[in-house]
Amino acid sequence: MKIAVVGTGYVGLVTGTCLAEVGMEVTCIDIDVKKIENLKKGILPIYEPGLEEMVLRNTAQGRLHFSNDIESSIQDADVAFIAVGTPPGEDGSADLKYVLAVARSIGKYMNNYIVVVTKSTVPVGTAIKVKAAITEELALRNSYEEFDVASNPEFLKEGAAIEDFLKPDRIVVGVESPRAEEVMRRLYKPFLLNGHPIIFMDVPSAEMTKYAANSMLATKISFMNDIANLCEIMGADVNMVRRGIGSDPRIGNKFIYPGIGYGGSCFPKDVKALIKTASENGYSMQILKAVESVNENQKSVLFNKVMDHFGGDIAGKTFALWGLSFKPKTDDMREAPSLVIIEKLLAAGANVRAYDPVAMPEAKHSLGDTIVFAKDQHDALIDADALLIITEWPEFRTPNLKVLGKLMSDKVIFDGRNIYEAKEIQEAGFAYYCIGVKT
Ligand code: UGA
Repeated sequence: MKIAVVGTGYVGLVTGTCLAEVGMEVTCIDIDVKKIENLKKGILPIYEPGLEEMVLRNTAQGRLHFSNDIESSIQDADVAFIAVGTPPGEDGSADLKYVLAVARSIGKYMNNYIVVVTKSTVPVGTAIKVKAAITEELALRNSYEEFDVASNPEFLKEGAAIEDFLKPDRIVVGVESPRAEEVMRRLYKPFLLNGHPIIFMDVPSAEMTKYAANSMLATKISFMNDIANLCEIMGADVNMVRRGIGSDPRIGNKFIYPGIGYGGSCFPKDVKALIKTASENGYSMQILKAVESVNENQKSVLFNKVMDHFGGDIAGKTFALWGLSFKPKTDDMREAPSLVIIEKLLAAGANVRAYDPVAMPEAKHSLGDTIVFAKDQHDALIDADALLIITEWPEFRTPNLKVLGKLMSDKVIFDGRNIYEAKEIQEAGFAYYCIGVKT
């Protein structure tokens, strides 16, 4: 099959590369000339474990191509994925200008039956707008070419995107015709060998599925953060409560880890967008509004603990931060809780020495020289009055507490991800604070 993937961001690049990996002829298209030049040389715009090797291999084998030329890439394609950005506008709704511009280009250049698939997370009702834009362009050039639109939301997790794409739990596809269903079934056949289902539905339901999935996951996290805060007040231990409830399969043990709030490019944006879509249509998403506000508060919980410990005055003190990205195995800093925590520490007159295994270059874009970027995790600790665990990178899980004690000027740890055993840390002479447990 011949595939065009428009947009070489996170979703587009992973989609295009994984489709090439199973033998399809894929062209990834972007208007950004530099980005495409770099991709042709194997230089990727994002960090994702395993992706670079896969791009290089498939490019070398001639199945994966990169181009700025949408015209030739669309011609003769069986499927065109729209995987361009949908940045949130001022009011929280997704801005569709890039998606619709791509739809217009497809209408301008397509020369055979094609299935146009929205892969970006787009509001319910977008496929209809994509269809209208393509139809208009076809009419302008008196063309009667047939096409279908489909919605195929992605459920990739940053840091595990390749695995998620190659071995999906499920593939959700919204289609309008049996012909499009057939094309999409053929496209995804190589990924269904392990018995994972492909679920066909109508287009609006597929669009809604994506928002409902992310909103449900965000809800689980905010719910647990709320419970964690109450556990602290009541003298319960959220780690035990989590294990206690997670063993009920109806609740499940995933995505119930309390922390410093969810971040990233998906949950915050999607929760906002669904609240907005609902209100535009006369409905109020009460639970999601609470999910959002709990999450905002949660980003301050660790800072509040710092202030309590130091009696409300941290001016001139130095804080070591381990981790900056919104979660491990990514350099993504979008909506990262670290940004809120750093802003508060700096506003209170403190100094910050941070270390992150991959996100520091990305973090420098927004933080500049307001903080010190340490050479390694130990360098971050030099003369620190306390260590804050922000992101649960594996290398932070088993620290040498003797070394920590020597490097730091005071032995205090604020663990925003509950990665340590309180007893062990306290026995080594540290004051230890975590989320949802009174220590
Ligand atoms: C999320 C979804 O998990 C994917 O299924 C979806 O495809 C993706 O959004 C998307 O819409 O593109 P992602 O944003 O990469 O993926 O990251 P997650 O692993 O879901 O983590 C999101 C945030 O929740 C992180 O800040 C993480 O620290 C936090 N989290 C997660 C918790 O605080 N507790 C948990 O138990 C789990």
